[in-house]
Amino acid sequence: MGEIHRTTRVIAVANQKGGVGKTTTVVNLAAALSKMRRTVLVIDLDPQANATTGLGLQRQDGVSIYPALMGQAAVADMIQPTPYENLNVIPSEVNLAGAEIEIARRGDHLVAVRDVLQQIRDAAVFDYILLDCPPSLGVLMTASLAAADGILVPMQAEYYALEGLSVITGLIERLKANGANPALELNGILMTMVNMSTNLSHDVIGEVRRHFGDKVYESMIPRNVRTSEAPSYGQPVVFYDPSCRGAEAYRAFAKEFAARNPTRMEVQVDQVV
Ligand SMILES: Nc1ncnc2c1ncn2[C@@H]1O[C@H](COP(=O)(O)OP(=O)(O)O)[C@@H](O)[C@H]1O
Ligand SMILES: [Mg+2]
Repeated sequence: MGEIHRTTRVIAVANQKGGVGKTTTVVNLAAALSKMRRTVLVIDLDPQANATTGLGLQRQDGVSIYPALMGQAAVADMIQPTPYENLNVIPSEVNLAGAEIEIARRGDHLVAVRDVLQQIRDAAVFDYILLDCPPSLGVLMTASLAAADGILVPMQAEYYALEGLSVITGLIERLKANGANPALELNGILMTMVNMSTNLSHDVIGEVRRHFGDKVYESMIPRNVRTSEAPSYGQPVVFYDPSCRGAEAYRAFAKEFAARNPTRMEVQVDQVV
């Protein structure tokens, strides 16, 4: 007789560069995982709220991670359903930009974010919590990384991409060394907006694989028009146009991601002979 034990994995999707595909990856990884019957919570940490609107929700004052961090609301009350089964979101709001300052002023921001995430982990409702980070190294992002199990870095194949990566790997090392999050790891690197017909993409991807080996996911996301259109319809591309190349690539990536990051384990009981 088996019993399924579930753990929640918290993955921060981060890269201090804007426009590299963080939000697109969060929205579509979440959507593809939800189709695989994994329960997913997206937390939108970017005041731009692109993940929120990309999942079909409107920004709403007072509904974000911010009131929970300030102790003004229960985090459970901030979790909103999306139009999709198994897929929930804590949206972003305009206030999140100002929240940085107030949260920094409190001085215990590392603890605040970890506590809030722990409350969600304790509920054991979600397989995955995906954090959509803003393109900055602000207090909220640093505190989120301090509370995450791993960091997924979407990366565009372009010059200086490796230099940008050293900022993230340096940050991981710092958070580990200063005791903020000793277990933090680079979950992986996902190449985005890839155009394999160019030498540049080829060369950069080759170099990233040489440096980071199997940390680089086998799956790569091609540059794809349908993928860039989907957000203006408030839909993940895996639902907007399931048969396009972008949707296919995100589904393949979600399979690889779930295999690398299992959250359910069958435990044998009644083994007494
Ligand atoms: N695979 C892709 N093909 C084409 N356009 C893409 C792809 N991935 C992302 N985009 C577009 O690139 C822009 C930046 O992507 P986004 O996910 O918002 O990046 P970030 O969150 O890192 O700032 C958006 O307009 C998005 O629609
Ligand atoms: Mg974004």
